[in-house]
Amino acid sequence: MTEKTRSVIAIYPGSFDPITKGHLDLVERGAKLFDKLIVAILENATKEEPLFAVEERMEMLREVVRPYPNVEVDSFRGLLVDYVARRKATVILRGIRAISDYEYELQMALMNTRLAPDIETVFMMASEAYSFLSSRLVKQVFGLGGNISGLVPPVVEERLKRRVPRVG
Ligand code: PNS
Repeated sequence: MTEKTRSVIAIYPGSFDPITKGHLDLVERGAKLFDKLIVAILENATKEEPLFAVEERMEMLREVVRPYPNVEVDSFRGLLVDYVARRKATVILRGIRAISDYEYELQMALMNTRLAPDIETVFMMASEAYSFLSSRLVKQVFGLGGNISGLVPPVVEERLKRRVPRVG
């Protein structure tokens, strides 16, 4: 048996606005696969105005990943592959829910491979229980008065209550 000398660092990038139980499930499973897992929030998102500031998202993430000693929370700007190289990581971890995620994820993975061929994207299937879950839907359902308990960690629910005015 050869002794393991290499430690594999993976980056789990995303917006995490806010983190859901689906994200957390991936963190938990990823933490078992890799020696170190860095959950990295994109700072310069162009998609839409975020609900939570990056700092708030980092605070919530830090709280929920506390049980996992090999998981770190960070944020990054610019190209993901540059950040991955800076952190001496070799893997990008992403979750796939339904087939509808596939095209977007494939495009990103292929672009990242083109930019940095040595960085591997690893996909994990979302657990069945969370395969319908997204941050966008959580915000929408919560804002419209729906019940989101069990879909986000309690710290996120607390912050949503303080942040989002509920309709109806
Ligand atoms: O959770 P999200 O919003 O689907 O995550 C998207 C993310 C952060 C993984 C993606 O937007 C990203 O990597 N952005 C950084 C910019 C970049 O590297 N773009 C080129 C690769 S496609």
